Amino acid sequence: MTKLNVYDVLVIGSGGAGLSLALRLADTTQVLVISKVAISSGSTYHAQGGISAVLDANDSIESHIKDTLKAGAGLCDLAAVQLTVEQGEKNIEWLKQQGVDFTKKKEKDGKISLHLNREGGHSHRRIVHTADATGKAVSKSLVQRAQEHPNITLLENHNAVDLIIKNKHKQSGQYVQGAYVLDIASKKVKTISAKTVILATGGASRVYLYSTNPDVSTGDGIALAWRAGCRISNMEFMQFHPTCLFHPKERSFLISEAVRGEGGKLLLPDGTEFMHHYDPQKELAPRDIVARAIDNEIKKHGIDCVYLDISHKPADFIKQHFPTIYKQCLSLGIDITQQPIPVVPAAHYTCGGVMTDLNARTDILGLYAVGEVASTGLHGANRMASNSLLECLVFAERAANDLSKTLSNLPEPELAPEWDESKVSDSDEEVVVSHNWDELRHFMWNYVGIVRTNKRLNRAMHRIEILKQEIAEYYGNFRVTSDLLELRNLVIVAELIIRSALLRKESRGLHYTQDYPETDDSKAVENTILYPTIKRWEEDNKIQN
Ligand code: FAD
Ligand code: SIN
Repeated sequence: MTKLNVYDVLVIGSGGAGLSLALRLADTTQVLVISKVAISSGSTYHAQGGISAVLDANDSIESHIKDTLKAGAGLCDLAAVQLTVEQGEKNIEWLKQQGVDFTKKKEKDGKISLHLNREGGHSHRRIVHTADATGKAVSKSLVQRAQEHPNITLLENHNAVDLIIKNKHKQSGQYVQGAYVLDIASKKVKTISAKTVILATGGASRVYLYSTNPDVSTGDGIALAWRAGCRISNMEFMQFHPTCLFHPKERSFLISEAVRGEGGKLLLPDGTEFMHHYDPQKELAPRDIVARAIDNEIKKHGIDCVYLDISHKPADFIKQHFPTIYKQCLSLGIDITQQPIPVVPAAHYTCGGVMTDLNARTDILGLYAVGEVASTGLHGANRMASNSLLECLVFAERAANDLSKTLSNLPEPELAPEWDESKVSDSDEEVVVSHNWDELRHFMWNYVGIVRTNKRLNRAMHRIEILKQEIAEYYGNFRVTSDLLELRNLVIVAELIIRSALLRKESRGLHYTQDYPETDDSKAVENTILYPTIKRWEEDNKIQN
């Protein structure tokens, strides 16, 4: 038997979204935060460029809104954009109070202000940053604050398996009551009861073979919410970052957009520039345009990568602005002050996700989704650079404000059924899991990547059906492991991406298909919303009745 744990608030995920929310609630509420592996394992820790906020006297809220809407290609929710952008300065202040030390500059009049980066899609310098390791600075401060707080319990190596939902069959009366969580060290599944569960599990970019994301980005929160009965939207809009380092020893290291913001040029192997053929903003066009341009040049010329060159800038400037990128590249034999950097696009950000309202509420009472796991309406068909950390902060605050009013009215957690392992054994075929992982990521990269066709999408869907059957059989027979749980979630996420991509009969933002290469402006623009069919919950879970 596992120990019964009861909390008011369970936060699944310890990135920027989960920890901000925990910190904003903890003065009045006991909060449990769990993380699949180490506390700083999420994308937040790896963020480079920074956080967008209107701080420059020449910039304006209207301009930030306009740029965000333009990048979002007609699919942003104006209310979500407005409230996020308006809260930028306040949230940067909050981060400073948590101890984050942002890079500063001396003004002409001697005053010290925050240094602002420029990135693609932004018509002004508005990216607050800590050199080129903003996420590390944010994560360190938030983790330290959370560790010090007496009302926050942090549990590492705890992997959420499934949500506990009451009234699973009555869609309108559903409410959350906690989660089943695999304690990786003891290999036991614990029942954690909670009045409120916050999904803050990050994105799903590891569904692709090449990604800038850490290993934890396997879309778990999206799959958990989908199995529980939530709507999922806009999953066709997977963002590929244009410039991931291309090196045999390092396939996930990002070369920040800020390098292009400071004048970095994209070049073919012979030194020719090409971005002017694709967009008047050249290297600073929105990401979808730059990533597709690179993909096109790579395919057209049959080359492995293109090059990003910042070596025309003074060496001291490069080392001061991009110390992490400089050191990492140098360790691989690339001196970026002297030579161009080999780069390729890689999966980077999940624009769609669990549908929420403007208070981060999902379709299920007591279940919230914050950060990259959520689809709030901010990003539309393409996220603008550095808007996502801002979204994590703004929506964490909104969820915390909402919860401080509603928590006392939510149903008390009841005794949930224990996890049943009586019919399963330890696996003697781990190879099935690793083989299916590889296969899934390969065909997602090859068939559901930057440029799509119906034929390739259908081919990928066919593979999904087979994988789903194999995984269901494996899940039914063997004790759960983290690898198996991640694979089970990734297959769901892959299916949601493919289904959404097949539903969109046009090209828009990050979704580009050769079958419908034009954007269809003839009718009202719609989000792609997938509705779950509520099946018998017990069938999907190993529950002892
Ligand atoms: P994450 O920070 O990814 O955290 C997810 C958490 O959930 C982790 O703790 C993980 O362990 C946990 N988790 C996941 N599944 C489970 C489970 N089943 N059970 C328990 N725990 C689970 N955005 C910007 O705005 N500016 C930038 O400069 C920027 N740079 C980036 C650079 C890189 C290399 C990458 C990868 C992303 C970058 N982004 C940037 C995007 C941004 O970092 C992310 O969107 C954001 O940090 C997501 O935060 P999050 O809290 O939602 O998730
Ligand atoms: C980068 O530094 O290029 C990443 C910025 C982002 O993803 O928002």
